[in-house]
Amino acid sequence: MTDNVRPADMARITTPELAEAFIAQQLTALKAQIGDKKVLLALSGGVDSSVVAALLIRAVGKQLTCVHVNHGLLRKGEPEQVVRVFREELGANLIYVDAVDRFLDKLAGVADPETKRKIIGKEFIDVFAEEARKLDGIQFLAQGTIYPDILESGPVKSHHNVGGLPPELNFELVEPVKFLYKDEVRVVGKALGLPDSMVYRQPFPGPGLGVRCVGAITRDRLEAVRESDAILREEFAKAGLSGKVWQYFTIVPDFRSTGIKDGKRSFEWPVIIRAVNTQDAVTATIEELDWKILAHITERITHEVAGVNRVLYDLTPKPTGTIEWE
Ligand code: XMP
Repeated sequence: MTDNVRPADMARITTPELAEAFIAQQLTALKAQIGDKKVLLALSGGVDSSVVAALLIRAVGKQLTCVHVNHGLLRKGEPEQVVRVFREELGANLIYVDAVDRFLDKLAGVADPETKRKIIGKEFIDVFAEEARKLDGIQFLAQGTIYPDILESGPVKSHHNVGGLPPELNFELVEPVKFLYKDEVRVVGKALGLPDSMVYRQPFPGPGLGVRCVGAITRDRLEAVRESDAILREEFAKAGLSGKVWQYFTIVPDFRSTGIKDGKRSFEWPVIIRAVNTQDAVTATIEELDWKILAHITERITHEVAGVNRVLYDLTPKPTGTIEWE
Protein backbone atom coordinates (compact mmCIF):
# COMPACT_ATOMS: atom_id res chain seq x y z
CA MET A 1 0.00 0.00 0.00
CA THR A 2 1.76 3.14 -1.16
CA ASP A 3 -0.19 5.85 0.54
CA ASN A 4 -3.46 6.36 2.24
CA VAL A 5 -3.98 10.06 1.70
CA ARG A 6 -6.61 11.29 -0.72
CA PRO A 7 -4.88 13.20 -3.54
CA ALA A 8 -5.22 16.95 -2.90
CA ASP A 9 -6.36 17.60 -6.49
CA MET A 10 -9.10 14.94 -6.46
CA ALA A 11 -12.44 16.65 -7.19
CA ARG A 12 -15.39 15.80 -4.98
CA ILE A 13 -17.66 13.42 -6.93
CA THR A 14 -21.04 15.13 -6.86
CA THR A 15 -22.50 14.61 -10.36
CA PRO A 16 -23.13 11.69 -12.74
CA GLU A 17 -20.49 13.13 -15.10
CA LEU A 18 -17.84 13.15 -12.37
CA ALA A 19 -18.88 9.62 -11.39
CA GLU A 20 -18.47 8.44 -15.01
CA ALA A 21 -14.98 9.95 -15.11
CA PHE A 22 -14.07 8.22 -11.82
CA ILE A 23 -15.46 4.90 -13.12
CA ALA A 24 -13.46 5.14 -16.39
CA GLN A 25 -10.27 5.93 -14.47
CA GLN A 26 -10.85 3.06 -12.01
CA LEU A 27 -11.58 0.54 -14.76
CA THR A 28 -8.20 1.33 -16.32
CA ALA A 29 -6.45 1.12 -12.94
CA LEU A 30 -8.17 -2.14 -11.96
CA LYS A 31 -7.35 -3.81 -15.28
CA ALA A 32 -3.72 -2.74 -14.90
CA GLN A 33 -3.50 -3.97 -11.30
CA ILE A 34 -5.30 -7.29 -11.77
CA GLY A 35 -4.30 -8.29 -15.30
CA ASP A 36 -5.51 -11.84 -15.89
CA LYS A 37 -5.44 -12.83 -12.20
CA LYS A 38 -8.38 -13.68 -9.94
CA VAL A 39 -10.02 -11.50 -7.27
CA LEU A 40 -12.16 -12.40 -4.28
CA LEU A 41 -14.70 -10.11 -2.59
CA ALA A 42 -16.89 -10.49 0.48
CA LEU A 43 -20.14 -8.99 -0.77
CA SER A 44 -22.44 -7.99 2.09
CA GLY A 45 -24.91 -6.10 -0.08
CA GLY A 46 -24.05 -2.82 1.65
CA VAL A 47 -23.34 0.12 -0.61
CA ASP A 48 -19.53 0.02 -0.37
CA SER A 49 -18.98 -3.64 -1.21
CA SER A 50 -21.74 -3.48 -3.84
CA VAL A 51 -20.04 -0.58 -5.63
CA VAL A 52 -16.70 -2.40 -5.52
CA ALA A 53 -18.36 -5.53 -6.95
CA ALA A 54 -20.03 -3.57 -9.75
CA LEU A 55 -16.73 -1.86 -10.66
CA LEU A 56 -14.85 -5.17 -10.69
CA ILE A 57 -17.52 -6.91 -12.76
CA ARG A 58 -17.04 -4.21 -15.39
CA ALA A 59 -13.25 -4.31 -15.14
CA VAL A 60 -12.49 -8.03 -14.97
CA GLY A 61 -15.84 -9.85 -15.27
CA LYS A 62 -15.59 -13.50 -14.33
CA GLN A 63 -12.12 -13.11 -12.83
CA LEU A 64 -14.02 -11.78 -9.82
CA THR A 65 -15.62 -14.19 -7.36
CA CYS A 66 -18.04 -12.66 -4.86
CA VAL A 67 -18.89 -14.48 -1.64
CA HIS A 68 -22.12 -13.54 0.08
CA VAL A 69 -22.39 -14.97 3.57
CA ASN A 70 -25.94 -15.09 4.89
CA HIS A 71 -25.42 -15.16 8.66
CA GLY A 72 -29.12 -15.00 9.39
CA LEU A 73 -28.86 -11.48 10.79
CA LEU A 74 -29.60 -9.63 7.56
CA ARG A 75 -32.74 -7.63 6.92
CA LYS A 76 -35.72 -9.14 5.20
CA GLY A 77 -35.13 -9.61 1.46
CA GLU A 78 -31.46 -8.63 1.49
CA PRO A 79 -29.79 -11.96 0.64
CA GLU A 80 -32.32 -12.46 -2.17
CA GLN A 81 -31.58 -8.96 -3.51
CA VAL A 82 -27.82 -9.60 -3.53
CA VAL A 83 -28.31 -12.81 -5.55
CA ARG A 84 -30.81 -11.18 -7.93
CA VAL A 85 -28.76 -8.05 -8.64
CA PHE A 86 -25.29 -9.55 -8.82
CA ARG A 87 -25.80 -13.06 -10.14
CA GLU A 88 -28.87 -12.63 -12.31
CA GLU A 89 -28.67 -9.02 -13.48
CA LEU A 90 -24.92 -8.33 -13.53
CA GLY A 91 -23.82 -11.89 -14.32
CA ALA A 92 -21.29 -12.09 -11.48
CA ASN A 93 -19.60 -15.23 -10.24
CA LEU A 94 -21.38 -15.32 -6.88
CA ILE A 95 -21.04 -17.91 -4.16
CA TYR A 96 -24.00 -17.73 -1.81
CA VAL A 97 -23.27 -19.31 1.56
CA ASP A 98 -26.23 -20.17 3.74
CA ALA A 99 -24.54 -20.04 7.15
CA VAL A 100 -27.70 -19.22 9.11
CA ASP A 101 -27.77 -22.36 11.28
CA ARG A 102 -24.06 -22.19 11.91
CA PHE A 103 -24.20 -18.61 13.21
CA LEU A 104 -27.40 -19.05 15.22
CA ASP A 105 -26.13 -22.28 16.81
CA LYS A 106 -22.90 -20.52 17.88
CA LEU A 107 -24.90 -17.59 19.26
CA ALA A 108 -27.45 -19.69 21.15
CA GLY A 109 -27.55 -18.75 24.83
CA VAL A 110 -24.96 -15.95 24.47
CA ALA A 111 -26.32 -12.77 26.06
CA ASP A 112 -23.25 -10.55 26.43
CA PRO A 113 -23.17 -7.93 23.62
CA GLU A 114 -19.42 -7.94 23.05
CA THR A 115 -19.24 -11.73 23.08
CA LYS A 116 -22.04 -11.80 20.50
CA ARG A 117 -20.11 -9.35 18.29
CA LYS A 118 -16.90 -11.40 18.63
CA ILE A 119 -18.66 -14.64 17.69
CA ILE A 120 -20.26 -13.02 14.64
CA GLY A 121 -16.95 -11.44 13.53
CA LYS A 122 -14.92 -14.63 14.02
CA GLU A 123 -17.50 -16.89 12.44
CA PHE A 124 -17.70 -14.57 9.45
CA ILE A 125 -13.96 -14.78 8.88
CA ASP A 126 -14.02 -18.58 9.33
CA VAL A 127 -16.82 -19.03 6.77
CA PHE A 128 -15.18 -16.65 4.30
CA ALA A 129 -11.76 -18.32 4.72
CA GLU A 130 -13.31 -21.75 4.14
CA GLU A 131 -14.81 -20.53 0.86
CA ALA A 132 -11.53 -18.86 -0.14
CA ARG A 133 -9.60 -22.11 0.44
CA LYS A 134 -11.88 -23.95 -1.95
CA LEU A 135 -10.92 -21.60 -4.79
CA ASP A 136 -7.79 -21.96 -6.90
CA GLY A 137 -5.46 -19.21 -7.96
CA ILE A 138 -6.90 -16.23 -6.12
CA GLN A 139 -4.33 -13.46 -5.94
CA PHE A 140 -6.31 -10.40 -4.87
CA LEU A 141 -8.80 -9.55 -2.14
CA ALA A 142 -11.12 -6.65 -2.94
CA GLN A 143 -12.55 -4.57 -0.10
CA GLY A 144 -15.09 -1.78 0.20
CA THR A 145 -12.82 0.37 2.35
CA ILE A 146 -13.87 4.03 2.13
CA TYR A 147 -12.00 7.18 3.17
CA PRO A 148 -13.64 7.60 6.60
CA ASP A 149 -12.51 4.03 7.45
CA ILE A 150 -8.92 5.10 6.80
CA LEU A 151 -9.29 8.41 8.64
CA GLU A 152 -11.02 7.00 11.69
CA SER A 153 -10.14 3.32 11.55
CA GLY A 154 -12.81 3.17 14.27
CA PRO A 155 -15.03 0.31 15.36
CA VAL A 156 -17.82 1.09 12.92
CA LYS A 157 -16.59 -1.04 10.04
CA SER A 158 -14.73 -3.67 12.01
CA HIS A 159 -17.07 -6.45 10.99
CA HIS A 160 -17.50 -5.40 7.37
CA ASN A 161 -13.90 -5.62 6.35
CA VAL A 162 -12.38 -9.03 6.19
CA GLY A 163 -9.40 -8.41 8.39
CA GLY A 164 -7.62 -11.21 10.18
CA LEU A 165 -7.67 -13.81 7.42
CA PRO A 166 -5.29 -16.71 8.09
CA PRO A 167 -1.73 -16.06 6.80
CA GLU A 168 -1.98 -18.52 3.89
CA LEU A 169 -4.83 -16.39 2.58
CA ASN A 170 -2.78 -13.22 2.58
CA PHE A 171 -4.00 -11.74 -0.69
CA GLU A 172 -2.98 -8.43 -2.20
CA LEU A 173 -5.64 -5.79 -1.54
CA VAL A 174 -7.77 -4.08 -4.17
CA GLU A 175 -9.55 -1.01 -2.74
CA PRO A 176 -10.99 1.09 -5.56
CA VAL A 177 -13.18 3.37 -3.40
CA LYS A 178 -10.73 3.95 -0.56
CA PHE A 179 -10.48 7.71 -1.25
CA LEU A 180 -14.22 8.26 -1.49
CA TYR A 181 -16.61 9.60 1.11
CA LYS A 182 -19.95 7.86 1.54
CA ASP A 183 -21.93 10.39 -0.51
CA GLU A 184 -19.46 9.94 -3.39
CA VAL A 185 -19.74 6.15 -3.22
CA ARG A 186 -23.50 6.58 -3.61
CA VAL A 187 -23.11 8.84 -6.68
CA VAL A 188 -20.78 6.24 -8.22
CA GLY A 189 -23.17 3.39 -7.32
CA LYS A 190 -26.03 5.23 -9.00
CA ALA A 191 -23.90 5.79 -12.13
CA LEU A 192 -23.05 2.05 -12.15
CA GLY A 193 -26.78 1.31 -12.32
CA LEU A 194 -27.20 -0.26 -8.88
CA PRO A 195 -30.77 -0.11 -7.52
CA ASP A 196 -31.70 2.83 -5.28
CA SER A 197 -32.55 0.45 -2.43
CA MET A 198 -28.88 -0.57 -2.41
CA VAL A 199 -27.34 2.82 -3.16
CA TYR A 200 -29.32 4.85 -0.61
CA ARG A 201 -29.38 2.29 2.18
CA GLN A 202 -29.16 3.54 5.74
CA PRO A 203 -26.10 2.45 7.73
CA PHE A 204 -26.36 -1.13 8.95
CA PRO A 205 -24.02 -2.61 11.56
CA GLY A 206 -21.82 -5.58 10.64
CA PRO A 207 -23.42 -7.75 13.37
CA GLY A 208 -26.73 -6.87 11.75
CA LEU A 209 -30.01 -7.60 13.46
CA GLY A 210 -28.00 -9.50 16.10
CA VAL A 211 -27.47 -6.28 18.11
CA ARG A 212 -31.19 -5.49 17.88
CA CYS A 213 -32.33 -8.84 19.23
CA VAL A 214 -31.24 -7.87 22.73
CA GLY A 215 -29.58 -10.51 24.90
CA ALA A 216 -29.41 -14.15 23.84
CA ILE A 217 -30.74 -14.44 20.28
CA THR A 218 -33.61 -16.83 19.67
CA ARG A 219 -34.97 -17.60 16.22
CA ASP A 220 -38.51 -16.48 16.97
CA ARG A 221 -37.45 -13.17 18.52
CA LEU A 222 -35.02 -12.59 15.63
CA GLU A 223 -37.92 -13.06 13.20
CA ALA A 224 -39.88 -10.46 15.21
CA VAL A 225 -36.97 -8.01 14.72
CA ARG A 226 -36.76 -8.80 11.00
CA GLU A 227 -40.50 -8.57 10.33
CA SER A 228 -41.01 -5.38 12.36
CA ASP A 229 -37.97 -3.79 10.65
CA ALA A 230 -39.48 -4.62 7.24
CA ILE A 231 -42.79 -2.99 8.22
CA LEU A 232 -41.02 0.09 9.57
CA ARG A 233 -38.97 0.47 6.38
CA GLU A 234 -42.05 0.03 4.21
CA GLU A 235 -44.02 2.65 6.14
CA PHE A 236 -41.09 5.10 6.22
CA ALA A 237 -40.78 4.76 2.45
CA LYS A 238 -44.52 5.39 1.98
CA ALA A 239 -44.35 8.47 4.22
CA GLY A 240 -41.34 9.86 2.30
CA LEU A 241 -39.09 9.50 5.35
CA SER A 242 -36.52 6.98 4.12
CA GLY A 243 -34.25 9.57 2.50
CA LYS A 244 -34.75 12.04 5.35
CA VAL A 245 -34.05 10.07 8.53
CA TRP A 246 -30.47 8.92 9.01
CA GLN A 247 -31.12 5.57 10.69
CA TYR A 248 -34.36 3.87 11.72
CA PHE A 249 -34.93 0.35 12.91
CA THR A 250 -36.65 -1.83 15.48
CA ILE A 251 -35.38 -3.61 18.57
CA VAL A 252 -36.92 -6.55 20.41
CA PRO A 253 -35.83 -6.85 24.06
CA ASP A 254 -35.77 -10.16 25.89
CA PHE A 255 -38.73 -9.60 28.16
CA ARG A 256 -42.47 -9.88 27.75
CA SER A 257 -45.52 -8.11 29.08
CA THR A 258 -49.19 -8.84 29.38
CA GLY A 259 -51.54 -7.79 26.63
CA ILE A 260 -54.82 -8.76 25.06
CA LYS A 261 -55.36 -10.17 21.58
CA ASP A 262 -58.57 -11.61 20.10
CA GLY A 263 -60.23 -11.34 23.51
CA LYS A 264 -57.51 -13.43 25.16
CA ARG A 265 -54.66 -12.46 27.45
CA SER A 266 -51.26 -12.63 25.81
CA PHE A 267 -47.76 -12.54 27.25
CA GLU A 268 -45.54 -11.29 24.45
CA TRP A 269 -42.58 -9.06 23.50
CA PRO A 270 -42.63 -5.33 22.86
CA VAL A 271 -41.08 -3.87 19.70
CA ILE A 272 -39.10 -0.67 20.21
CA ILE A 273 -38.79 1.78 17.32
CA ARG A 274 -35.71 3.97 17.04
CA ALA A 275 -35.34 6.74 14.44
CA VAL A 276 -32.36 9.08 14.74
CA ASN A 277 -30.57 11.85 12.88
CA THR A 278 -26.87 12.55 13.10
CA GLN A 279 -23.91 13.93 11.16
CA ASP A 280 -21.22 11.57 12.36
CA ALA A 281 -22.92 8.98 14.64
CA VAL A 282 -21.05 10.46 17.63
CA THR A 283 -24.16 12.30 18.80
CA ALA A 284 -27.71 11.83 17.55
CA THR A 285 -31.12 13.45 17.89
CA ILE A 286 -34.55 11.87 17.70
CA GLU A 287 -36.75 12.21 14.62
CA GLU A 288 -40.01 13.85 15.69
CA LEU A 289 -42.32 11.40 14.01
CA ASP A 290 -45.88 12.23 13.14
CA TRP A 291 -48.24 10.64 15.68
CA LYS A 292 -50.51 9.22 12.95
CA ILE A 293 -47.59 7.46 11.26
CA LEU A 294 -46.49 5.99 14.60
CA ALA A 295 -50.05 4.82 15.32
CA HIS A 296 -50.31 3.15 11.90
CA ILE A 297 -46.94 1.41 12.30
CA THR A 298 -48.01 0.25 15.78
CA GLU A 299 -51.24 -1.15 14.38
CA ARG A 300 -49.38 -3.07 11.68
CA ILE A 301 -46.62 -4.44 13.91
CA THR A 302 -48.98 -5.61 16.66
CA HIS A 303 -51.24 -7.32 14.11
CA GLU A 304 -48.68 -8.70 11.67
CA VAL A 305 -45.66 -9.70 13.75
CA ALA A 306 -45.91 -12.97 15.63
CA GLY A 307 -45.23 -12.80 19.37
CA VAL A 308 -45.58 -9.01 19.73
CA ASN A 309 -48.27 -7.15 21.67
CA ARG A 310 -46.84 -3.64 22.23
CA VAL A 311 -44.87 -0.98 20.36
CA LEU A 312 -42.74 1.69 22.04
CA TYR A 313 -40.92 4.72 20.60
CA ASP A 314 -37.42 5.37 21.94
CA LEU A 315 -37.15 9.11 22.74
CA THR A 316 -33.53 9.00 23.92
CA PRO A 317 -30.90 11.07 22.10
CA LYS A 318 -27.23 10.05 21.96
CA PRO A 319 -25.98 10.67 24.59
CA THR A 320 -27.29 9.21 26.84
CA GLY A 321 -28.39 6.33 24.64
CA THR A 322 -26.19 4.89 21.91
CA ILE A 323 -27.85 4.51 18.51
CA GLU A 324 -27.96 0.71 18.77
CA TRP A 325 -29.25 -0.97 21.92
CA GLU A 326 -26.19 -3.19 22.29
P1 XMP B 1 -23.75 3.40 18.39
O1 XMP B 1 -24.71 2.34 18.76
O2 XMP B 1 -22.37 3.18 18.96
O3 XMP B 1 -23.59 3.33 16.83
O4 XMP B 1 -24.24 4.80 18.73
C1 XMP B 1 -22.97 4.30 16.00
C2 XMP B 1 -23.09 3.82 14.56
O5 XMP B 1 -22.31 2.64 14.37
C3 XMP B 1 -23.15 1.54 14.01
N1 XMP B 1 -22.66 0.36 14.76
C4 XMP B 1 -21.91 -0.62 14.24
N2 XMP B 1 -21.45 -0.84 12.98
N3 XMP B 1 -20.42 -2.82 13.70
C5 XMP B 1 -20.71 -1.93 12.72
O6 XMP B 1 -20.31 -2.15 11.59
C6 XMP B 1 -20.83 -2.69 14.98
O7 XMP B 1 -20.55 -3.52 15.83
C7 XMP B 1 -21.63 -1.53 15.25
N4 XMP B 1 -22.21 -1.06 16.38
C8 XMP B 1 -22.84 0.10 16.05
C9 XMP B 1 -24.56 1.95 14.39
O8 XMP B 1 -25.54 1.28 13.60
C10 XMP B 1 -24.51 3.43 14.15
O9 XMP B 1 -24.69 3.74 12.78
